[in-house]
Amino acid sequence: MSNVVVVGTQWGDEGKGKITDFLAQKADVVVRFQGGNNAGHTIVFNNQKFALHLLPSGVLSTDKVNVMANGMVINPKALIEEMNMLNQRGVKDFDLRISNRAHIVFPYHIELDAAFEKVGEDKIGTTKRGIGPTYTDKAFRSGIRMGDLLDLDYFRKRLSAALAIKNNVLKMMNLEVIDLETLYQEFLGYREVLKEYICDTSVVINKYLDEDKKVLFEGAQGVMLCIDHGTYPFVTSSSPSAASVPLYTGVAPRYINNVLGVIKAYTTRVGEGAFPTEFDDEVAHQIRETGNEYGTSTGRPRRIGWLDLVVLNHTKRVSGLTGLSVMLLDVLSGIESLKICVAYKYKGQTIDIMPSIVDHLSDCEPVYIEMPGWQEDITEITSFDELPSNAKDYLSKIEELTGVKVKIFSVGPDREQTIVVEDVL
Ligand code: GDP
Ligand code: IMO
Ligand code: MG
Repeated sequence: MSNVVVVGTQWGDEGKGKITDFLAQKADVVVRFQGGNNAGHTIVFNNQKFALHLLPSGVLSTDKVNVMANGMVINPKALIEEMNMLNQRGVKDFDLRISNRAHIVFPYHIELDAAFEKVGEDKIGTTKRGIGPTYTDKAFRSGIRMGDLLDLDYFRKRLSAALAIKNNVLKMMNLEVIDLETLYQEFLGYREVLKEYICDTSVVINKYLDEDKKVLFEGAQGVMLCIDHGTYPFVTSSSPSAASVPLYTGVAPRYINNVLGVIKAYTTRVGEGAFPTEFDDEVAHQIRETGNEYGTSTGRPRRIGWLDLVVLNHTKRVSGLTGLSVMLLDVLSGIESLKICVAYKYKGQTIDIMPSIVDHLSDCEPVYIEMPGWQEDITEITSFDELPSNAKDYLSKIEELTGVKVKIFSVGPDREQTIVVEDVL
């Protein structure tokens, strides 16, 4: 158990930041392996709240090596702002390594992300951070990487080639074209701040793995937003699954055998797309307000749904979960009856696997079991035994229906409000 992957099991915002920060206290290295500043990871301790978008959630613990791996897409301006924000709040001198192979998010990616959302018939409801267009350029081989900033002639050549195409696309979309020299100068400024951190992070991570150090891999988003296994096309443009860790970080697959699935005790989703267990009544309103279910990155109200075991078992299968961390259990206090979706009804048939066509998922009716809720405030408890029996039953039911052990559960946003049933690192 010298390393663990933290995977979001639903549509993101499950509490990955909190649990990564919690586990980071025991880790030597924390690696963010995909996504960009579409992510919003919230960490609370000592009455302070931090929202991280790009930096690994290990930066708030001292003496950790924090790696932004090759699978990420990095907006340098947003990264520098995040680093400055931390510096101003007294979090300084963290050990940061940025992959020379991570792709750069440029202003034109952000412009195009917003523009495509306006004209497309299938609006995704993206975070408008330029994530899709940047991963598109990566696959199209017209991307520019963090390491390119270290060779200015090469960087300028790549930027010039990219703009030759991008300015035509911008014109087509009635957007302003971008001047090469201005953009180049802007990025020279970012280079000055970031160049000392850029390196081959695969070499760095493997060195620590060889030394038997503890490595924590932090995913962003959730498997239902995975480009391959999610509710396509209403997904992000990378894969948050544990399966992507070797590719996105440059380590051998044999290191990936301990995968912690982070589950919200109910479900939320931001953006568009099918969501079978969604409901919108007084109870949903109560959950949204108690759980502060508003996007960390965009402030959008999150859609609320019951726990969905078809989703969890899908994530378990494609991501190889070996343990669960159930978050926001406290938010369910005071609800009379809790529903858990165990299957879908689709065209009169009962199914328990996720349809690949999103319109079919929209037509699925959830099949629920109901469990009695609990009234007690559980935010102060410190052990499993102190939970009300209905809350214990709720956790046991999740274990029974997934076949995966609940190793951690969480009863509040603070680092302290975390209960470990079995060590994961
Ligand atoms: P992430 O994207 O997976 O890191 O999750 P977010 O940070 O976007 O959203 C999770 C939200 O739930 C944040 O506001 C956390 O502070 C909060 N949170 C995490 N765990 C708990 C918990 O056990 N109880 C409560 N009430 N809030 C929690
Ligand atoms: P964390 O790491 C929740 C959603 C967007 C949209 C879709 C595509 O905090 O869990 P994108 O900007 O990635 O092209 O948007 O994915 N989305 C998230 N939803 N949490 C996130 O990250 C998300 N990152 C992207 O709302 O539906
Ligand atoms: Mg989030």
